Amino acid sequence: MDSSVKKRNAAQAALEFIEPGTILGVGSGSTVQHLIELLPNVRDRIDKVASSSSVTTGLLEHAGFEVSSLNDVGDLDMYIDGADEANKRLQLIKGGGGALTREKVLAEAARRFVCIVDDSKLVGMLGEFPLPIEVLPMAQAFVARKLVKLRGQPVWREGFVTDNGNHILDVHDFPISNPLEMETRLNQIPGILTVGIFAHRPADVLLIADDSGVRELRG
Ligand code: 5RP
Repeated sequence: MDSSVKKRNAAQAALEFIEPGTILGVGSGSTVQHLIELLPNVRDRIDKVASSSSVTTGLLEHAGFEVSSLNDVGDLDMYIDGADEANKRLQLIKGGGGALTREKVLAEAARRFVCIVDDSKLVGMLGEFPLPIEVLPMAQAFVARKLVKLRGQPVWREGFVTDNGNHILDVHDFPISNPLEMETRLNQIPGILTVGIFAHRPADVLLIADDSGVRELRG
């Protein structure tokens, strides 16, 4: 089955989790794009919507939703987003689209985080996908040297500027055997705004679409 069909199936399955009166956070990426196309079908259950990126805001508005600021809505009932990698503990790598900082804020602000992926994203150990890290532009070379000392191979995502005006380093060849510890460790490096490891705030529900349907893992 085509991965785009699987992504749509995962997005469709996430709709079941949206209860009447939900204040919803919406992630970014191609899987979420399917979700946004489907969201009008459950519009009557959604009270307010907050967005994780300028692209998502544009898509939500195009679908007829008024997007609220997180500052105005308070905590979210639910956050739905995709991932670049997920393990069976529902820890994730995110940030392939460069929206990791706002995604991490919304995930943390949500009572429930439902992650939607196709089965190619499920891995034994995180880190085959290059780890995205958002850095202050003035600290980029400094942070890159620190990452080399940790045996990673940071590559500047040249020409890309995040919604927050920062740069992304993608760290290659960086197997992450202990996601909690590595997230904590990288968070100590000045100049790093956000690490794309979501281990301290993993998903609560992982919906994995494969050839035979959508299965569910819970944290
Ligand atoms: C964006 C993300 C996305 O969730 C991640 O890149 C997955 O994207 P896709 O659904 O297109 O495979 O973290 O920053």
